Amino acid sequence: MHPALTAQSLSITAGTTGLVHDLSFHVDPGERVALLGASGSGKSLTAAAILGSLAPGIAVAGEITLFGTARPTRTVRGRGGSVAAVYQDSLSALNPLVSVGGQLIATLRAQSRRVAGRTATRDARGTVADLLESVGIDDPQRTMRGYPAELSGGQRQRVCIALALLCQARLLIADEPTTALDVVTQARVIEVLRDYGQVSGAAILFITHDLAVAASLCDRALVLENGRLVESASMADLIGRPQHPYSRALVAAATPARDLVGATQ
Ligand SMILES: Nc1ncnc2c1ncn2[C@@H]1O[C@H](COP(=O)(O)OP(=O)(O)OP(=O)(O)O)[C@@H](O)[C@H]1O
Ligand SMILES: [Mg+2]
Repeated sequence: MHPALTAQSLSITAGTTGLVHDLSFHVDPGERVALLGASGSGKSLTAAAILGSLAPGIAVAGEITLFGTARPTRTVRGRGGSVAAVYQDSLSALNPLVSVGGQLIATLRAQSRRVAGRTATRDARGTVADLLESVGIDDPQRTMRGYPAELSGGQRQRVCIALALLCQARLLIADEPTTALDVVTQARVIEVLRDYGQVSGAAILFITHDLAVAASLCDRALVLENGRLVESASMADLIGRPQHPYSRALVAAATPARDLVGATQ
């Protein structure tokens, strides 16, 4: 079976400045892999390269392969519904002119048409409301009537997660999806992502600087420092025997992660 995602010798530059250097890794189907690293280490750029959404002026070399098919690192179109993303910037990820419910229902409809035919409006509203509730939105009906700018950052982030899950993608790339959330909501969202991965068999590339959160979801970890991959290990090994100095600092700063690693099984 092909990996869900392979990055081969990925390098990203802005002018003469190297931002990501010769990065190679893979994510197997059904695997949940954390991409860890300090702010500015190149996590979001890596996600953008995979998704074909790098800003103009940023150059990229190397190869991205999705489910065995190499794809240009510049094209947003043509992912064929196999990849969904939760972007770090939740405001720009949503259409400001369409109600939250409208966006979610349109996504559900598009997905339903692809796999099975139509979904009745009442069913669609109910499905979307249930999903919003599962990611910790207390009043889904009111949220669905509202517009993205009327939501808090954390609520918007959860709407983006719901949108991504509705796509039923085989690979989910989630860039800091829980960063704006309080710890209780964070735990709930992690549970929803874990369930999604387990039930659908989707692969998840989970981008974060928070080792404790990563340990509660992911089986494997990739650690970036200044755009370079400095460690690739199982989550248990990273936490129990971190090799690189940055990994050791990450583990030392997140002692509670030791207690969380059991939750990944
Ligand atoms: N459009 C751009 N032009 C030039 N440099 C950029 C651009 N986008 C990002 N960078 C630089 O590339 C580096 C990596 O940025 P990136 O957004 O990938 O970091 P990150 O690991 O996602 O950080 P954070 O945890 O803060 O989200 C940073 O030094 C950033 O300043
Ligand atoms: Mg980022």
